[in-house]
Amino acid sequence: MTLPVAVLVSGRGSNLQAILDACASGALDARVVYVASNHAGVPALDRAASAGVPHGAFTVADFGSRAAAQAAMAEAVMRTDPRLVVHAGFDHILGPEYFVRLGGTPVINVHPALLPLFGGRGMYGVRVHESVLAAGATESGATVHRVHPDTIDLGEVVVQRRVPVLSGDTPEMLGARVLEQEHIAIVEAIRRFVLATTPLR
Ligand code: GRF
Repeated sequence: MTLPVAVLVSGRGSNLQAILDACASGALDARVVYVASNHAGVPALDRAASAGVPHGAFTVADFGSRAAAQAAMAEAVMRTDPRLVVHAGFDHILGPEYFVRLGGTPVINVHPALLPLFGGRGMYGVRVHESVLAAGATESGATVHRVHPDTIDLGEVVVQRRVPVLSGDTPEMLGARVLEQEHIAIVEAIRRFVLATTPLR
């Protein structure tokens, strides 16, 4: 069965694009059934539109509170009946209003470091790579992990891919190297769920 997947985004959407491309090429037996963003007008929503995928923006400004926006987003996501929800560059912590409505649907997130290192509150975007360099780490990488209510970067690791830290690296250079691996890791992680839901013949 082709796995129906919903994707949550906040900005650029390059991880979403990697998923859409893998589905379109047949490399991944999955289908993106919905894309939800917590910001309006972001490039990730344009990517969804270009791929013909239903999508919506659920902003705090429109819904009055973060909890209300997340509840509406979860309801929209669940109306498309996904078997997996992927957070691909989603930048808000999700509360119980969201997870209650997901009703146990598994959720995964991609993080640009080797968790459990360099995760948690405030560790996002370029700050992660700045911290890796400041700590003198010799490697970093991408982690796809399960997401549970009110936790940040703490769920079980599904896929991890490593990259070296090179001398002279800036946070941007390291971030670009990690991002390439995020794109591979997120597709590989979804593939694990495809395999887990495919009956043996
Ligand atoms: C990625 O580095 C992701 O790990 C982080 O934010 C970035 C999002 O990139 N949380 P994109 O929107 O998928 O291009």
